[in-house]
Amino acid sequence: MNPYLHCRIAAIALALACVATAPAIAQDQRLASPDGRNVITVSVREGRLTYALQRDRRNIIMPSELGFAFRGARPLLDSLRITGSSRATADTTWTQPWGEVTRIRDHHNELRVSVVEASASGGGRRFDVVFRAFNDGIGFRYELPSQPNLGDFEIMDELTQFSMADDSRAWWIPSNRPRLDRSEMLYSSSPLSVIDSVQTPLTMESRDRRTYIVIHEANLVDYARMNLAGRGMESRTLRAALAPLASGVKVRGRTPFVTPWRTVQLADRAEDLSPAVLGLNLNPPNVLPSTDWIKPMKYVGIWWGMHINTMTWSSGPKHGATTANTRRYIDFAAANGIGGVLVEGWNVGWDGDWIANRNAFTFTQPYPDYDLKGLAAYAKQKGVKLIAHNETSGGIANYERQLDSAYALYRSLGIDAIKTGYVTDTVDGGHSHHSQFAVNHFRKVIETAAKYGIMVDAHEPIHDTGERRTYPNMMSREGARGQEYNAWGSEGGNPPEHETILFFTRLLAGPMDFTPGIFDILIERGTGRPRRPEEPRIRTTLAKQLALYLVIYSPLQMAADLPENYEKQPAFQFIRDVAVDWDTTRVLQASIGDYVVVARKERGKPNWFVGAITDEVGRTFDVPLSFLPPGRPYVAEIYADGPGAHWLTNPLPVTISKQRVTAASRLRLRLAPGGGQAIRIAPAP
Ligand code: NOJ
Ligand code: CA
Repeated sequence: MNPYLHCRIAAIALALACVATAPAIAQDQRLASPDGRNVITVSVREGRLTYALQRDRRNIIMPSELGFAFRGARPLLDSLRITGSSRATADTTWTQPWGEVTRIRDHHNELRVSVVEASASGGGRRFDVVFRAFNDGIGFRYELPSQPNLGDFEIMDELTQFSMADDSRAWWIPSNRPRLDRSEMLYSSSPLSVIDSVQTPLTMESRDRRTYIVIHEANLVDYARMNLAGRGMESRTLRAALAPLASGVKVRGRTPFVTPWRTVQLADRAEDLSPAVLGLNLNPPNVLPSTDWIKPMKYVGIWWGMHINTMTWSSGPKHGATTANTRRYIDFAAANGIGGVLVEGWNVGWDGDWIANRNAFTFTQPYPDYDLKGLAAYAKQKGVKLIAHNETSGGIANYERQLDSAYALYRSLGIDAIKTGYVTDTVDGGHSHHSQFAVNHFRKVIETAAKYGIMVDAHEPIHDTGERRTYPNMMSREGARGQEYNAWGSEGGNPPEHETILFFTRLLAGPMDFTPGIFDILIERGTGRPRRPEEPRIRTTLAKQLALYLVIYSPLQMAADLPENYEKQPAFQFIRDVAVDWDTTRVLQASIGDYVVVARKERGKPNWFVGAITDEVGRTFDVPLSFLPPGRPYVAEIYADGPGAHWLTNPLPVTISKQRVTAASRLRLRLAPGGGQAIRIAPAP
């Protein structure tokens, strides 16, 4: 008989006996996902609170400790006792105003565990850990209630561990490289035991290749970003490593206080990792009264020219942001159905060393050769949006002083999108780029922008932890190594495998402003002279640049090349046609670091798009079109690597063809080494 029922129906004496003989509160608690496959076990062992994670009864995370180290107080780690627990369950579905999918189901079971410190030396500090188990992974966070012995605090370390069950293969970028306090490195792939410091999302494949595991965080508010630290060779235990303030303190706070969610996404196949929605489900719902003004779009920009040295941000003979040049970009956008024009270097502050002179940037005063008001009016007349660039160089105070006046000005001019930038090693005050200070600044930008009806595209940002659910004006970010590295050629640019890793790592956090669409693969036409082989270039075929519009999701998606490089290019038609907002996304075939084939259905339209990319190995894919509704004729417009295409020796040939297809058709996609293929599938006329 069910013991609870037994107690309930028994006589009072018997009920008292039940209470007397039962342990006060179980020191082991178990929480399963709705499908029963993912199981969290929370226990107290020798006074330490641990959690463990199994999937299908196989260990994923071994018992791992939870706690904090505070400044000026004993760590909150030992002599803990579970004093209570409660459970909840939820099954709701919500709609994204834009995204990779329209509808998202949030189906989870929750367990709240309350813990007290019970040492003889006293303290009696209390905290809760809330766990949520979903079919696609788990999340947990700490909640520190208001209490006499824990008021104001300074966290020196969060003692959360992730003790991985095997020496999984990891794809990772480091987090502790001096002067590289960003996320713009090339990925390494190795057993996790060689990692000493790593950024999240950290994607791993279990040794038996049966499980993909992604550690990340969600709803990063008023806290430091979480990186992970290894314990040196042969250890599989990763621990939270919070980005520091200049003082070395990680987080300053006061109870009551909640931390971000720590998330562990789980999937059986690489194909099932994307689109990742676990983190979105752990963010609060949209708080904006209206989202009608938030519109995904493609954009061009006065941008690539600066990176290939044909234009400058600063004033002078090569100044890119001139009135005449901007009018040319606006005309180009209008003629090609492209929604926006980004302008960099329009505002005073770029002359001299703009990183050292961070406080010289104004965000309202244009250079004399840039007619801000006239251009805003011209753009409006042409049905195009200007996107204002705000490079801060990490001068947070300088930017925050101007936020209201700048955004009010943009709003009055009909500019409803900005691109921010934080090119620097540390931000104001010597704080880490990812410190609590920077996190709070970044949140302030999102909130202030929302107030003025402005969409944000952030470069060198805090990593994405799903903020876009709460603030859907938070559109896209860089936060990884984008196309710009091909222009500079640093470390040889981006190798052909780069984007096949990004898809399973950085892109699981959220959209990325990678800036695809460079057609002048050898960067010759912009500079007006043939390039030597060792000079910077793009390390893909041209067809792969098209496929990146599907693979690298961004609601603000750039056509990054110079307008003149799109002229007389039949393949540019694909960039004109490709959508930027999706009802559905299906990853058809994928292998991390090797290839991705993805299909997406345009939001609110019957059109589908397929993008396929490969690393330096040429590949052929057989793709059934069974994602199409049956019985309806479609036309597939196919942009494929042409004969003899090869990213290194022959990157330009693209073969464009049309074919009638139905849901029963199969397409054979032939990708050159370093190549790709992009397909638009629309109902037959
Ligand atoms: C780096 C950004 O990623 C790039 O897009 C921008 O042009 C420069 N900083 C200047 O702000
Ligand atoms: Ca950058």
